[in-house]
Amino acid sequence: MKVVVIGGTGLIGSKVVARLGEHGHEAVAAAPNTGVNTLTGEGLAEVLQGASVVVDVSNSPSFEDQAVMDFFRTSTTNLLKAEADADVTHHVALSVVGTERLQGSGYFRAKQVQEDLIMESGMPYSIVHATQFFEFAKGLADGMTEGDTVRLPAARIQPIVSDDVAAAVGRASVGAPVNGVLEVAGPEAFRLEEFIRMGLTATDDPRTLVTDPQARYWGAELQENTLLPGPDAHIAETRFADWLARQQ
Ligand SMILES: NC(=O)c1ccc[n+]([C@@H]2O[C@H](COP(=O)([O-])OP(=O)(O)OC[C@H]3O[C@@H](n4cnc5c(N)ncnc54)[C@H](OP(=O)(O)O)[C@@H]3O)[C@@H](O)[C@H]2O)c1
Repeated sequence: MKVVVIGGTGLIGSKVVARLGEHGHEAVAAAPNTGVNTLTGEGLAEVLQGASVVVDVSNSPSFEDQAVMDFFRTSTTNLLKAEADADVTHHVALSVVGTERLQGSGYFRAKQVQEDLIMESGMPYSIVHATQFFEFAKGLADGMTEGDTVRLPAARIQPIVSDDVAAAVGRASVGAPVNGVLEVAGPEAFRLEEFIRMGLTATDDPRTLVTDPQARYWGAELQENTLLPGPDAHIAETRFADWLARQQ
């Protein structure tokens, strides 16, 4: 089966391409540096020839509100149109657990537009909602740093390693379309401050962490459980402490 992975050179995409290849599928990485650009349409029709499934794990190069909205609206619209023209039968996309609860954030408003375009397209689909990646601990801290202090909302987080996300996306892409959302999360919930502290300590990052009930998460207000998955989520095995130990 031919599977085109949009964003197939990125963190998740490269792992999805490798996994599908190991399982005997023809997995093609599509990204600007392989000659496929979903914003301009360059190379799209060509790469989709003969494809049964498209996996979209691309991300916006800029997280500025308008840029990220333009990215997901334009790229998803172009992609779904090209898929219909190429008789693709399953669109798989990666989004984030709690997207619908994070609409105070420009990034998550753009992810919601991406999801709405997919759901309204008529194309059979599966949307995988993952929690935050272990690899993203520093990026999360950077987004909430003022001076030398990281100000974190009083919320919980149940992060997951990127390999386990790629496995979930791979499973979804070889399965039948669910025409709905599949959630995947790591095995343990932490306080946001605890997760970030573990991540920064492992790299000797000297920043001070404070829990601040007024702090926002990429612009969105968080409740205690906003970032947590629901009861039906697939729970992956890899534990954060074990993964950190392997990074040393
Ligand atoms: N970070 C988290 O904790 C988290 C949690 C849940 C879900 N997610 C979702 O996971 C997805 C993938 O994240 P990631 O960290 O794997 O992303 P990433 O490593 O930043 O990779 C992004 C990919 O998108 C490609 N891309 C950028 N512009 C493109 C364009 N115009 N046309 C085609 N491809 C383009 C990039 O190609 P180039 O390298 O050539 O630019 C790259 O292959 C995102 O949609 C994100 O919302 C993230």
